[in-house]
Amino acid sequence: LSCLGTRWLGRDMRLFAQLASTNELAISLAQKGESGTVILAEVQTRGRGRLSRHWESPSGGIWMSLILRPDIPIALAYQINMAICVAVCRAISNLLGLNPGIKWPNDLLIGERKVGGILMEVQAEGERLEYAVVGVGINANIDPSAFPDDWMATSLSREGGSEVSRTALIQRTLLEIERAYENLGSMEIYDEWRRRSVTIGRMVRISANSGELVGEVEDLAEDGALLLRRDDELVRVLAGDCIHLRG
Ligand code: BTN
Repeated sequence: LSCLGTRWLGRDMRLFAQLASTNELAISLAQKGESGTVILAEVQTRGRGRLSRHWESPSGGIWMSLILRPDIPIALAYQINMAICVAVCRAISNLLGLNPGIKWPNDLLIGERKVGGILMEVQAEGERLEYAVVGVGINANIDPSAFPDDWMATSLSREGGSEVSRTALIQRTLLEIERAYENLGSMEIYDEWRRRSVTIGRMVRISANSGELVGEVEDLAEDGALLLRRDDELVRVLAGDCIHLRG
């Protein structure tokens, strides 16, 4: 990774054979860590998914976390998530010719199966964002049959039919993230996030704190909200607890 090609992202890169969770370590470093620090682990023993779920992280995947410090209001933190989702999709498309879609808000799918996910954990300082730790998990060279079938998991090696170069993919992903990050909040990112969405037009069931919502996804708004059609009502869903695509 010596010829990373990025200007600032990953200039401080820390590689580990094993960690509990790259997000966990990144959070503990974030207060002092430089913006752009990247933590990578070959294996995670306590990988974290959204909503406190466990994230299975065997050898062969890409498990990394980035420390970012954009000077933005905390209310705009969703823009980071959007930009990273788009950037990871671009890296996979451009390098491997596979075409991942985004299942709102931050699952990466190929076909109907999950190939990766993003876990952003933020710290606020008053109304501003102090830092964001963004975890990127990609099932690169993994045999998904090792996972229970109801996880609906896949991997790049399964989809592409051969092992991928993780070094090349990490490099490309960091390059795309750096570019997208410099375009934070742009229409270009929003448009691509929306275009890559596999959720628009689908019937979904969302379990949120307030209960269960069922309806058809009409659109995704510029602020990252999901717009759900229920009869005459258009409901904005900000942080869906859990979303199930139907049909
Ligand atoms: C999800 O889909 O629920 C998000 C999964 C995010 C997994 C990545 S792997 C690297 C980083 N470290 C973690 O513990 N989690 C994220």
